[in-house]
Amino acid sequence: MRLAILSRGPRLYSTRRLQEEALKRGIEVEILDPLQFTLSISKDSPQILHKGNKVNFDAVLPRIGHSITAHGVALLKQFEQLDIYAANGSQGIRQSRNKLLAAQILGRNNVPIPKTAYVRNINDVERAIGLVGGLPVVIKVSEGTQGRGVYLRHLYRDAIGLVSALLDLEHEVLIQEYIHESHGTDIRALVVGNKVVASMRRRARGKEFRSNFHLNGTVEPINLNPEYEEVALRAARVLGLNIAGVDLLEGKNGPLVLEINSSPGLEGIEMASGVNVAEKIIDFLEDDAQFAKVSMDQLLLTVPGHGILPLHLVNYPWLVGERIEDIFKNSESHAFALSRDRQLVWEPKNNLKLRYNDILIFYGDLYQLRINLRKILNFDEYNHLKKLTGIKNMENAESS
Ligand SMILES: Nc1ncnc2c1ncn2[C@@H]1O[C@H](COP(=O)(O)OP(=O)(O)O)[C@@H](O)[C@H]1O
Ligand SMILES: [Mg+2]
Repeated sequence: MRLAILSRGPRLYSTRRLQEEALKRGIEVEILDPLQFTLSISKDSPQILHKGNKVNFDAVLPRIGHSITAHGVALLKQFEQLDIYAANGSQGIRQSRNKLLAAQILGRNNVPIPKTAYVRNINDVERAIGLVGGLPVVIKVSEGTQGRGVYLRHLYRDAIGLVSALLDLEHEVLIQEYIHESHGTDIRALVVGNKVVASMRRRARGKEFRSNFHLNGTVEPINLNPEYEEVALRAARVLGLNIAGVDLLEGKNGPLVLEINSSPGLEGIEMASGVNVAEKIIDFLEDDAQFAKVSMDQLLLTVPGHGILPLHLVNYPWLVGERIEDIFKNSESHAFALSRDRQLVWEPKNNLKLRYNDILIFYGDLYQLRINLRKILNFDEYNHLKKLTGIKNMENAESS
């Protein structure tokens, strides 16, 4: 395998360690500067040149710094166009780099996070503080890193003044519940594939409430409990990252995800945990790169007019309690999946009884699907109404 590590710092600890472990495995490895690529974009033959030469490797391991996120995302998108494997994809990197977007995705997918509000107008700050549970609050900018742009404020006056200044600088501003039981500490869980391979606790020094390693915080080993592990894995998965440093606070009711780093530093975590994390990353990459990735979104676009149609049972309460086979027995449409309690059931059994919060998922020609489903749904609603209203002969009632 030929591997390219995309990194601006060939001498940085993490880059060197990844290179070292790749070489140990007999992988041909190059470290390429993500800022020295030329992308050519076209329908038939998109290309990637590095310093003017056509790239020829099978896999990339991105180590994209915060300051070049947008560029890194574009570069990875281009690798995806060429079907070159990337250990972390453009979407995962983009989503995790913006704290607002990440919080929205995490919250939507049942991952616990501190209460967070987003404001754009200074008049809304007081209300936002109320929404997250009152003072004190943490105020942070959406695109910050290494503790820069994260503040703790105890007074309305100070909070409003700070938000005002940040808005003037055109930052996206988040106001967050302050998790005081976690003051000055957090947990970093390093996710590789579907495992947490190493973890540590970070501690701030002195009065500092931010525990970032780059702010001189200290690190210590921990045994991560399964609840924290589960949450870290889920966070990485829903954001679309294979390799991720997940930061967690220890709230009084359990773990809360703070942020997810798509190019986690290896120095602190290897030191604290004694785990060879670089080796685990290379192992994973070598294995994962063998399987071609397909983008479902892309597949769904290939047949014109075809797509996914979800049917939310909340909108059709008269179907609750019915069996799939009874409802769809005369229909040409067939649900290929059922989403229930945030689990996906593929090819749901015919005798399964539907529940209130279920979502049935169909695939096919959308026009035809809508016709077929409308027939069934309307018919059943009609019978349902008939039962509810006790009108015995609705046909007559309608026509008279
Ligand atoms: N809501 C919060 N409650 C308590 N501590 C927090 C909170 N948000 C951040 N911190 C502390 O500040 C540090 C930096 O915040 P974080 O959101 O991870 O920003 P950055 O991307 O700059 O690291 C965290 O590691 C944690 O120690
Ligand atoms: Mg952080």
